[in-house]
Amino acid sequence: MTRYSAILVLLLTIAASTFRGGSGVEEYREQEEHYSEHEKSEGIFLLEKSEKILKTEAGEVSVQTRLKDAMKPPHDLQIVFISMEPKSFFVPQYLDSESVFYVLRGSAKFGWVHNGDFIEKNLKMGDVYRIPGGSVFYLLNTDKGQRLHITCGLDTSSSLNPGSFQSFFVAGGEDPVPVLSAFDDRILSVAFNVSRSELDTILSRQSRGPIIYIEDRGHKTLRSSSFFSPCNEDSWDWGHIIESFKFRKGSPDSFNIFKKKPDFKNDYGWSLAVDRHDYSVLKEADIGVFYVNLSAGAMMAPHFNPEAREYGIVTRGEGRIQIAFPNGTSAMDVSVGVGDVFWVPRYYPVCQIAARSGPMEFFGFTTSARKNRPQFLAGRNSVFNIMESRSLATAFSLSEKRLRGILQSQKESVILPPLTRSPTAPPREKEHEKEHSIFSILGFK
Ligand SMILES: *[C@@H]1O[C@H](CO)[C@@H](O)[C@H](O)[C@H]1NC(C)=O
Ligand SMILES: *[C@@H]1O[C@H](CO)[C@@H](O)[C@H](O)[C@H]1NC(C)=O
Ligand SMILES: *[C@@H]1O[C@H](CO)[C@@H](O)[C@H](O)[C@H]1NC(C)=O
Repeated sequence: MTRYSAILVLLLTIAASTFRGGSGVEEYREQEEHYSEHEKSEGIFLLEKSEKILKTEAGEVSVQTRLKDAMKPPHDLQIVFISMEPKSFFVPQYLDSESVFYVLRGSAKFGWVHNGDFIEKNLKMGDVYRIPGGSVFYLLNTDKGQRLHITCGLDTSSSLNPGSFQSFFVAGGEDPVPVLSAFDDRILSVAFNVSRSELDTILSRQSRGPIIYIEDRGHKTLRSSSFFSPCNEDSWDWGHIIESFKFRKGSPDSFNIFKKKPDFKNDYGWSLAVDRHDYSVLKEADIGVFYVNLSAGAMMAPHFNPEAREYGIVTRGEGRIQIAFPNGTSAMDVSVGVGDVFWVPRYYPVCQIAARSGPMEFFGFTTSARKNRPQFLAGRNSVFNIMESRSLATAFSLSEKRLRGILQSQKESVILPPLTRSPTAPPREKEHEKEHSIFSILGFK
């Protein structure tokens, strides 16, 4: 019953603005201005800007948390941002959650232990890479000039405290403290078959935090072959710990989203989703990813996702996100810009609109690796145009002809063009598009 009323209100709103014609355009503009003044905190499905959980001179890690009065997403997917300075190193650790990494900018060397083999992977912008929970990995930004920005979707449902994740550092010293430090000295010296003083050299030297600059003498350490070499005095001693792992290049592969052909494309934008059919390891993580590019003023038609919850990160431009409650009232209507993170509950209708000043792009994670089948509530492929029109006309209490006239006036589907400008009201001169950097907005330098 409530679902019907939601659809009803949505359709009536759309129908009403269609009927109003020219004045509808005016009203839309007024609303646009009005909404841009909206407080961000009114977006109950917005996630607050990063809470820093780790910061060193060479980088930082932040987690998106919800706003005080916001809706609480179910505790399974955490969105994490990692930022690393040029020539820096994130020491080996493992996480208590399935992880899907996405490179927002820069390039990374990703080293990890997979089924007893050491795998090294070069990742670049647009690459998606999944590693299972409990895999020991490290990250290197080997670039001399560019910062590395990565976002991760972490499935925390099997963590001890679902909704938050833990890192376990396997290497370190005073900072980060490796998990091994928890054990008794005697036990460790037996376990490693070394004297306590030798043990001390392993567990006390590092004090610069989990993300550190790679020292110049360590140029050698950039070469993977010598990186773990136990006889290289300059390399970190944790090399001893994982020296036994064999180096192997290659699989498992990463997946670059920009290499995929869009699933949908028209004159007003495109969208693509990467699911387990494109990148099979997503199946085990049960996380999917997607990317949407809306041209200036275009909108993703109101739709809902029957398969999954989604988390979107605005990566370019500005726009608006509207989300509907089941009872047909607005759950959220906010302006968003680069770096904003929003989430959309499963089944809740949502509509994303790019500002008229330029395209809006967003990347996202979904809580399912299955093929997503969004259901549209407007546009040529909407559920209304699939349903039999007589019953719909009765539901709307309109004649079939009149209803068909309304439903058929939108010729496009999925991504819809902006409202045509009224000739009597020239478009307001917009401020020049600010080139926001996602990273400055996320609080990174
Ligand atoms: C421990 O080290 C000593 C000498 O360094 C060696 O003789 C011995 O075999 C080692 N024991 C084990 C269990 O590896
Ligand atoms: C998104 O579309 C705009 C044009 O509307 C284009 O300039 C831009 O390169 C596209 N972005 C990507 C990542 O392809
Ligand atoms: C609609 O549902 C929302 C969320 O459950 C609630 O806060 C709001 O008061 C409801 N509005 C009406 C008119 O029922």
